Amino acid sequence: MKISIEVATKILYKGGVIAIPTETVYGIAADATNKKAIERIFEIKNRPSDNPLICHFYSFAQAKTFLNAYPKYVELLVNQFTPGPVSFLLPLKLPSSIQAATRGSAHVIIRIPMHELLLKLLKKISFPLAAPSANTSGKYSATTAEMVEADLGKKIDGVLDGGASSVGLESTILDCRNKDEIRILRPGAIGKEDIEWCLRNENIKVTDALSIEHTTPGSRYKHYSPATAVFQIQSEKEIPVKKNSIVIGLAEDLKKIPSNENLKLFSLGSENNLAEVASMLYRKMFELDALQVSEAYLIKRDFGNSAIGKAITNRLEHMLSR
Ligand code: TXA
Ligand code: MG
Repeated sequence: MKISIEVATKILYKGGVIAIPTETVYGIAADATNKKAIERIFEIKNRPSDNPLICHFYSFAQAKTFLNAYPKYVELLVNQFTPGPVSFLLPLKLPSSIQAATRGSAHVIIRIPMHELLLKLLKKISFPLAAPSANTSGKYSATTAEMVEADLGKKIDGVLDGGASSVGLESTILDCRNKDEIRILRPGAIGKEDIEWCLRNENIKVTDALSIEHTTPGSRYKHYSPATAVFQIQSEKEIPVKKNSIVIGLAEDLKKIPSNENLKLFSLGSENNLAEVASMLYRKMFELDALQVSEAYLIKRDFGNSAIGKAITNRLEHMLSR
């Protein structure tokens, strides 16, 4: 059920759970200080109970009231990239009213999203919003209100529809607990080069961490997967000879395939517009699942070393059935 911002505010104050739009993906949100509401998020998503939730704030000034001492460079990053598609893992001031959201951890991931409607909501309420991506655990994230409704519609108290998420992939997560090193725990639209450029006058090392799964206990599970089994093939030459095979790939790669009535081609967009490929990726998976076929074949591609290219590669790798 779609709801207005006024109704959303009321539901949140009563301890309800609603879907919220962000520029990355939709989230399912509750008052980060309300233990019962937080538990409901875990039930709704069927999320492993040790997997902490990102907390969303209207401003860094608000977030700071929840934080312990953090490295100086954090303010430079915050000024440069927020509101925006990036999140920061930082020390929590203890005791904390949001430790149900962090699952007892003394560290919290904070995010100041760049979405007008959500910022309006965050400004109206007096607490931060704990919000993981709006999807059943293990599945790709929702990037439209319709996708949220299809997956979780009956389980939540409403959806604040803010249109399609413009970035389309989850935020970059930066581990900022160390004073001279930043680890990128999850690649996203803000990349290593952006961070290095912002901190060019500081002596800070920026590293690509192995992955968030190595930092967070409850995230060592399947991620971003469609219901359809997707198998990777090296080139169009490996398309299996079967009736009604679905082949997924960039438009440029699909063009190389001779027309064949037994094949359904599923384009992810053009190599010349990776931002659009990213913004459409989960919506395409949703369309793929709607076809209700058991399997599909993804033509392997090097998406390059740009921030968005790396983020696309990361999500596609997680999606594959092996
Ligand atoms: O773009 C985004 O970040 C979206 C939107 C809704 O803001 N949110 C999102 O949340 O992607 P989620 O829960 O799907 O992914 C957050 C990741 C998870 O892997 C979780 O384990 C990790 O961040 N995480 C959250 N809080 C943490 C904490 N306190 N310590 C370590 N890892 C944490
Ligand atoms: Mg998620």
